[in-house]
Amino acid sequence: MRPSRRLDRIPPYLFAELERKIEAQRAAGVDVISLGIGDPDMPTYPAIVEAAKVAVADPGTHRYPTNRGRREFREAVAAFYARRFGVSLDPETEVMPAIGAKECIFNLNLAFLDPGDVALASDPGYPVYTGGPTLAGAEPVLMPLEPALGFAPDLDGIPRPTLERARLMFFNYPNNPTGATVPDGFFERAVALAQRHDILAVHDNAYSETTYDGYVAPSFLATPGAKEVGVEVFSWSKGYNMTGWRCAAIVGNAQVIDSYWRLKSNVDSGLFDAIQLAGVAALQESVDAEVKAMNDVYARRRDLVCDALEAAGVHVKRPHATIYVWAPIPEGFATSAQYCEFVLERVGVVITPGGAYGRSGEGYFRISLTTPEDRLMEAVERLRGLSR
Ligand SMILES: Cc1ncc(COP(=O)(O)O)c(C=O)c1O
Repeated sequence: MRPSRRLDRIPPYLFAELERKIEAQRAAGVDVISLGIGDPDMPTYPAIVEAAKVAVADPGTHRYPTNRGRREFREAVAAFYARRFGVSLDPETEVMPAIGAKECIFNLNLAFLDPGDVALASDPGYPVYTGGPTLAGAEPVLMPLEPALGFAPDLDGIPRPTLERARLMFFNYPNNPTGATVPDGFFERAVALAQRHDILAVHDNAYSETTYDGYVAPSFLATPGAKEVGVEVFSWSKGYNMTGWRCAAIVGNAQVIDSYWRLKSNVDSGLFDAIQLAGVAALQESVDAEVKAMNDVYARRRDLVCDALEAAGVHVKRPHATIYVWAPIPEGFATSAQYCEFVLERVGVVITPGGAYGRSGEGYFRISLTTPEDRLMEAVERLRGLSR
């Protein structure tokens, strides 16, 4: 069977070769430690699981949900956005559930792009920012995140013909994979650009609750004018250890949310009501302490990894948010993939090549902090041994 030309346009899966090698190492009896995937290793907090148990046992949750979402869900998100970010949302029109941020970001491409249109995608960035536009028949154009600008893109450097075709712009702070927090003034510049060129600004807010060292991540929607030009995608996955539950929300511009709803009513049948109710439980103030305790764990792991890398002569900028450390590959390797394969083969540690997140990720690797401290220590020791 020949797959569609659309699918053929998706670039080859960069992790495929790495995955084959991981399997080969494991089959050969190597104790492989994976610092690759950004999937929290700790369980969902008990209050959320308890709320889900009650909700699952209630036959009132067993039928098709509505794509618009339960009133409790929309009101809980609005209350959380007011409490946490100082952002006011109308639960009727400015909040809707999504089946994970990934689904939402992908479907926004289908809802807003036509062939010939451009989507501006942070580079390095979450792969759906480029795969989504491609599958929608449009063109992703990379916006390199400049280390000198605090890992913001140089919005003034985007050529005018590109801006004339741009309909969507994807950005994400706290940032995967660089761990950067939003540089001062970037959200304001993004609003101004979106206003000037009639672009829908999509802020991927997957990591706002995973912060430490006293850093508190803002919402894009707290920026004056943001709601007129944009939406934000909030996810429960990372902050509440809920990657498997597929719980997210799109918030912001009501017309955009209405178009997303129109699209989704043709694609899926909404988010399981019991998961919406678990999501409501997660947003209560009483859960804040669990989130804080989890973030203290990530901060300790971050120190462990960064101390070891620095001792090995690798210069890293300590992140104040996310579950990632982003570091330059040593000299002597042509590509990040080559370095990551070398590390796997020599010491059985999986790290992610920066090039997998886009051209500007080349020359870096990413370590995920979602591994228990003893295994993380062991992995870091092995890496240190390599550089001696
Ligand atoms: C930047 C970013 N956005 C979105 C996602 C996916 O979130 P979800 O689990 O809600 O689909 C991830 C997951 O790694 C991510 O790193």
